[in-house]
Amino acid sequence: MARIELKLKERSYPIVVSKNSTAQLIQLLKKELKKNKLFVFYDANFYALHGKKLSKELSSKFQYNEIVLPSGEKTKSAKELSKIYAYLLSENISRTDFILAVGGGVTTDLVGYAAATTLRGIKWGAVPTTLLGMVDASIGGKTGINHKAGKNLVGAFWQPSFVFSNIEFLQTLPHRQMIAGYGEILKYAGLLGNEMLDVAEKFLRKADFYDKNRLYRMVVLSSEYKAKIVKADEREGGKRMLLNFGHTVGHAIEKSLGYGKLLHGEAVLLGLLAAIQLSAHTNYSSSKALTDYAKLIVDTLSYLPYKRLNSSSILDAIQNDKKRIDSKQKFILLTNIGKPIITDKVKQSEILSSIKEMLHMYKYGVKND
Ligand SMILES: NC(=O)c1ccc[n+]([C@@H]2O[C@H](COP(=O)([O-])OP(=O)(O)OC[C@H]3O[C@@H](n4cnc5c(N)ncnc54)[C@H](O)[C@@H]3O)[C@@H](O)[C@H]2O)c1
Repeated sequence: MARIELKLKERSYPIVVSKNSTAQLIQLLKKELKKNKLFVFYDANFYALHGKKLSKELSSKFQYNEIVLPSGEKTKSAKELSKIYAYLLSENISRTDFILAVGGGVTTDLVGYAAATTLRGIKWGAVPTTLLGMVDASIGGKTGINHKAGKNLVGAFWQPSFVFSNIEFLQTLPHRQMIAGYGEILKYAGLLGNEMLDVAEKFLRKADFYDKNRLYRMVVLSSEYKAKIVKADEREGGKRMLLNFGHTVGHAIEKSLGYGKLLHGEAVLLGLLAAIQLSAHTNYSSSKALTDYAKLIVDTLSYLPYKRLNSSSILDAIQNDKKRIDSKQKFILLTNIGKPIITDKVKQSEILSSIKEMLHMYKYGVKND
């Protein structure tokens, strides 16, 4: 078991990673709950696989209420949020009660936001059950829902009281979801270098994505890294932007294809490749280490489904995003492995060439079966 403290100015909280036990979750909840009620929200697919066991454990120890939410990105909506409000208010939830979100990023984003906004804020805990949830979505207090104008446009920063990851839960995760989580891990590997890259590399070369010991190490290293970044910049005013490495092009791919065609983490893998190419085109880097890093990402492409993508629509999506955020689009590039920079000194022609090269690697990297 590992315990990482996420230290914030006002309040700190633990991220606990266990290989195969929920005992620590009970301890974390006992600290939060005396006579008050526990409201647990589960992702439906997770519930079908693990819910019986977990709900039995929790209901024997707490004043327990459970709700199962539909799986899928569509659940991160105002409609589902409104159903959660109606349920909690009809159950007379009080500000001393506690909410637990058990599922992937969809569940922790939505339920975290419900916790942030019900009665102006109720304490909550996150139990991520996907790899992407464990290494990224559950850490750092960004909660929210989607709007028809775009993804994650409505939300709040509302830090959980703890994050609890049980590696055992990942044994039932579909392979495609595992690769999507791996996209974020490879992002950290580029930003952090050294140990993280080493672990990720060994993991990938063996391609045993369900090895518990390696998953455990990667979740611990990723959680430590994200906790460090969030501590330095809780509200994304500066350093937290680094976590957007690979995401400018990644988001543009998701948008230009139509959401849901590629998983977020899959689009991030392609975005990372484009960012590496751009680091070279802009002369920020000529490092061989970056070429090796790119090869590692190319190796994962064989696990991705092939979708026809168009370089100018990706560029358009980047430009539109730029208009919404501010006049100058910032890119996270690498001068070397583990050495990121944030820059807006990038020419449109350089972006386009990088996207084209990435698309070429994608086309020939995917298994043609
Ligand atoms: N808040 C943040 O900082 C942050 C960061 C990154 C991503 N996100 C958000 O996270 C969401 C994506 O998260 P995700 O990739 O976890 O997707 P998800 O929550 O949709 O889960 C993916 C799939 O895995 C299933 N699942 C969950 N746990 C399982 C298990 N243990 N075994 C079998 N199946 C299981 C789910 O039912 C779902 O079908 C997006 O909405 C994204 O915007 C948020």
